[in-house]
Amino acid sequence: MKDKRFLIAGSILSADLLNLQRDVEEALNVGVDVIHFDVMDYHFVPNMTFGPAFLKAMHHKFPNAVFDVHLMIDPVTPEIVDDYIDAGASWISFHPEACIHTHRMLTYIRSKNVKAGIALNPSTAPELLEYLLDDLDFVLVMTVNPGFGGQKTIPSTLNKVAKIKAQIQKANKDIFIEVDGGVKDSNIKEIESYGAEVFVVGSAFFGADDKKVAIDNLHSALNA
Ligand code: DX5
Ligand code: ZN
Repeated sequence: MKDKRFLIAGSILSADLLNLQRDVEEALNVGVDVIHFDVMDYHFVPNMTFGPAFLKAMHHKFPNAVFDVHLMIDPVTPEIVDDYIDAGASWISFHPEACIHTHRMLTYIRSKNVKAGIALNPSTAPELLEYLLDDLDFVLVMTVNPGFGGQKTIPSTLNKVAKIKAQIQKANKDIFIEVDGGVKDSNIKEIESYGAEVFVVGSAFFGADDKKVAIDNLHSALNA
């Protein structure tokens, strides 16, 4: 599943979009583990980003990179999911509000050998996970309201991380928790203490002048 204890997922939403190839290359070179690909449709969230053609082009340039596709779209259908799988997605998460047959969709994604995740908005209760724990690879906990980079982590979402961690441990499942929103070197250790293992970092990484220093600071905060 994951070879390392903690993974940093760089969110390209905060990269320089006209120099995306350069930014992704630099991210991978300095040690970003995963490329977080935020898909928005102006419907599920009030913003619009990238689609499958874009992912395909990026996968072609960086065939060994792990692409973590976060679908902030409504609806989520097998056809749409197929487009991202064909384009090179390694992980796919979606929001339960945008998919009536959540269990069926998770099973479908996994049947294609892609890791399947459920993404939870800050106000979405984690109880529904109880019925999905056999069919999940990860839970993406939104620590901000989805739609934009550069927001501040909402404190109440951290207790939710702890609650989910307890659910996973109780069920004795190999499921990891990814957090998304407002993660930076000053709060990553605290967020980790609630049970997160994969950290989406957008503005705090791609917005930094020196990306090597940025990732080193994240790693040393985590290992402190
Ligand atoms: C928000 C996105 C996040 C975002 C994170 O809807 O899902 O991935 O890009 O960016 P930062 O790290 O700037 O909060
Ligand atoms: Zn995201």
